[in-house]
Amino acid sequence: MANKRNFLKQFFKDRKVVGAVSPSTRFLGEKMLASIDFEKVRHIVELGPGTGIFTDLIMQRMHKDTKLLVLELNDDFFHKLHDRIDDPRVQIIHDSAENISKYLDEELQNKQDVVISSLPLMVFSAPLRKSVVDASYNCLKPKGKYVQFQYSLQSKKFLEGIYKSVKITFTVKNFPPAFVYSCQKA
Ligand SMILES: C[S@@+](CC[C@H](N)C(=O)[O-])C[C@H]1O[C@@H](n2cnc3c(N)ncnc32)[C@H](O)[C@@H]1O
Repeated sequence: MANKRNFLKQFFKDRKVVGAVSPSTRFLGEKMLASIDFEKVRHIVELGPGTGIFTDLIMQRMHKDTKLLVLELNDDFFHKLHDRIDDPRVQIIHDSAENISKYLDEELQNKQDVVISSLPLMVFSAPLRKSVVDASYNCLKPKGKYVQFQYSLQSKKFLEGIYKSVKITFTVKNFPPAFVYSCQKA
């Protein structure tokens, strides 16, 4: 409940960054992660964790040798998540998603297996949208996956213009109901 109240407060403080009135459901999180083979992936990036609903699910599933890099721009979400999560596999960064490459060692640039994004792409300006989506694409290895949820189909053409394949599923078990875009790099 405290998480929900704080989420709404952050939304009223900064709508264009937070982009939603409440945290996602566990059900949406499970749908976001359904296509990921956690036994195989070793490098995951999460963008826009908010209160960490997906972060927790990723941590429960990820292999002991997997590294998770998390970028959150909102001050309050960042500090709460950073204080709460104490796991050597996870690095939580207070910065914008467009700067992913700054936090990856030279040998891990273009080597990430998966990007899980909750960024509110359609409330971003067109240049910001392009730079975060480009940064995500560039950090992925060939055939790497980009999984993004959105509340509309507005991102379909945009993501289809970038990724080799884009599969879309939908769930009403979230408020608002959400589309999950599962994209694969060539
Ligand atoms: C729709 S909320 C999703 C939060 C959480 N993942 C969930 O599903 O409940 C979007 C999140 O993206 C974060 N965010 C927005 N713009 C960002 C950016 N440029 N870089 C990193 N995080 C950003 C917001 O602060 C917020 O935590």
